[in-house]
Amino acid sequence: MTDLPHLTHVKHPLVQHKLTLMRDKNTSTAVFRQLLREISQLLAYEVTRELPMTTKQIETPMEPMDAPTLEGRKLALISILRAGNGLLDGMLELIPSARVGFVGLYRDEETLQPVQYYFKVPDNMNERLVIAVDPMLATGNSSIAAIDLLKKSGAKNIRFLCLLASPEGIAAMKEAHPDVPIVTASVDSHLNDNGYIVPGLGDAGDRMFGTK
Ligand code: URA
Repeated sequence: MTDLPHLTHVKHPLVQHKLTLMRDKNTSTAVFRQLLREISQLLAYEVTRELPMTTKQIETPMEPMDAPTLEGRKLALISILRAGNGLLDGMLELIPSARVGFVGLYRDEETLQPVQYYFKVPDNMNERLVIAVDPMLATGNSSIAAIDLLKKSGAKNIRFLCLLASPEGIAAMKEAHPDVPIVTASVDSHLNDNGYIVPGLGDAGDRMFGTK
């Protein structure tokens, strides 16, 4: 299969316009959530480029035809909890037959390393295109750990979709998983000392779920 480049920065005007609205600290939880849903569908369009196609015989009202259709097993969309769920919902509207998995990780306060607390993915991961979703690629630690787990479950063809990426996170992902293409709506300036993306949009989970 032809694959995506290591980094795809989606500069489509609709994506960039919606992202600006999401970044604005005065945007309400309800509007933030709606924008995330909309933008996730536009990003889903990009991350599913180059999927293998085949044809099947159908009959239009006019005549039989060999019509294009997606080849192979259903995609697996994997949400990296909890913020990944915000991207997942919109993507499932566009790809309703996708299989869905979840990876839950928290950061151990002493070692600062990601620790797994939940892992549930579809069967036959080795035969599926796997799209891991998390809005923020910040340090890259949790994304890298999630992809480690997906590879252990058999996944061979993985793409990573996020809304914002830091240069540090992109470099860390490239080092750990050079075979995993990243699709993002923005590459921001840098990470601050607390591991937040700058200028960013704050804590994506808090903004979508209205927590603090
Ligand atoms: N996670 C977030 O939600 N925001 C950041 O800026 C970094 C990580």
